[in-house]
Amino acid sequence: MDFYDRDIVSIRDLDRDSIEQILDMSEKMVPYARGEKVKRALDGRLLGNLFFEPSTRTKLSFESAAYRLGCDVIDVSEMSMTSMSKGETLADTIRMVDAYCDAIVLRHPHEGAARLAAKFSENPVINAGDGAGSHPTQTLLDLFTMRRSKGSLDGLNVALVGDLKYGRTVHSLVEALTLFGANLTFVAPESLQMPSDIFSHIASRGCSPVKTAALEDVIDKADVLYVTRIQRERFPDPAEYQKVAGTYRISNAVLREAKSDMIIMHPLPRVDEILPEVDGTAHAKYFEQAFNGVPVRMAILCAVLGGEV
Ligand code: CP
Repeated sequence: MDFYDRDIVSIRDLDRDSIEQILDMSEKMVPYARGEKVKRALDGRLLGNLFFEPSTRTKLSFESAAYRLGCDVIDVSEMSMTSMSKGETLADTIRMVDAYCDAIVLRHPHEGAARLAAKFSENPVINAGDGAGSHPTQTLLDLFTMRRSKGSLDGLNVALVGDLKYGRTVHSLVEALTLFGANLTFVAPESLQMPSDIFSHIASRGCSPVKTAALEDVIDKADVLYVTRIQRERFPDPAEYQKVAGTYRISNAVLREAKSDMIIMHPLPRVDEILPEVDGTAHAKYFEQAFNGVPVRMAILCAVLGGEV
């Protein structure tokens, strides 16, 4: 697949071959992402980073990826600091940023914002998370982390734990995993289970996920435990959040039944769903996963802006 000048809005836009193409490119980027080698494949190019929702990893890893490739970055971190606070529409804002740079990375609180931005931008738009919608570049770095840790993506037993209703990272991830024949288990209280449209979409691809609320049902079978934060900010009613807050806590005691090579991933930030005592175990991959955002986003930027890999 030719990524040049293309938007990356949803993981549904990518097939298995194109995902593997990005993962192979990301592998080559690792020494450059670590600063062990220097690459200026995007010298003279300019990235517009628009983050209208808080972010540590996605924003900074896109910036790191860009600068590591010689690409400059202009950025906005708060809607209140733009003319959107005076009533300017997202469409007009995108038209302006499009005129000032060569590609746009957008994080926005509303589902569908990245698709709308792509309509109004001539240059490529990369979705960095749209509300509870999707987060395709997170999925690519998640798959990269799994492939590096497990050797292959084929047929993995993946248990996804926590906020599957509002968690955009898991929405994108399960769709991609079905392309690799994963066996999926959704571990969540009924009120936070995977939305039915995503369930139907993956079922239409021949995947039959198991639903449970009990972590004990999966802990000894999982190759990958993908833990997510229960996202207080997405609950319309704070009382509903209180009912499910703290439902799952991964501790060393919980991990006693796990396979010795089972890996724990988390898109981060975490609150209390993985105890710090787990960080030092061989299971913990979440900080490595966060670093992997840099090589994967270097590959994505090179792909859409035509930089040599
Ligand atoms: N994983 C992730 O999207 O983290 P940030 O919200 O810090 O970007």
